[in-house]
Amino acid sequence: MTRIASPAAYAKAVALASAFLVAGCSAGGSDQIEGRWYSGQQVSEGHDLFVANCASCHGMRAEGTTDWKRRDAQGRLPPPPLNGTAHAWHHPVDVLDETIVKGGAQWGGTMPPFGDRFSEDQRKALIAFVQSLWSDEIYTRWLVRNGVK
Ligand code: HEC
Repeated sequence: MTRIASPAAYAKAVALASAFLVAGCSAGGSDQIEGRWYSGQQVSEGHDLFVANCASCHGMRAEGTTDWKRRDAQGRLPPPPLNGTAHAWHHPVDVLDETIVKGGAQWGGTMPPFGDRFSEDQRKALIAFVQSLWSDEIYTRWLVRNGVK
């Protein structure tokens, strides 16, 4: 019955679907945070995971170490802030995701790899929490640079 017959009809369906999504967001029908790719639910789940697994190094609010570019005597970098004041916002979601899985060894760092400790949804939630700490300005710069991947 509702089979989509032509490419034009398909395009129309897509347009309608996105209009619906946008309306859904602004109407507050979902928990989606305005202008961001994630929901409040993801941020709160990510917050709990972050406090339990990341805060010991990166700080409770991901404020990290202020002097995050200075290596110690062994050449190790301190845990950087992830709150938008350092470098993390230069990376697309998949690189942030890979950092959680593989840790810092890929670039000679010391962050431990979390491997399969978290599900993909949990890693998304962790990234959502981290990004919830970014100002709109930083988030927009990130969006322009990386888009949501
Ligand atoms: C044992 C300390 C430690 C823990 C625990 C830790 N990190 Fe890290 N993290 C680091 C260090 C140190 C770096 C800097 C790179 C390196 O040396 O590996 C880093 C780098 C990062 C980066 C890259 C930042 C950038 O500017 O590119 C991200 C993203 C990150 N951590 C996220 C997390 C998340 C999310 C968790 C929890 C699931 C976590 N880290 C747990 C120490 C830690």
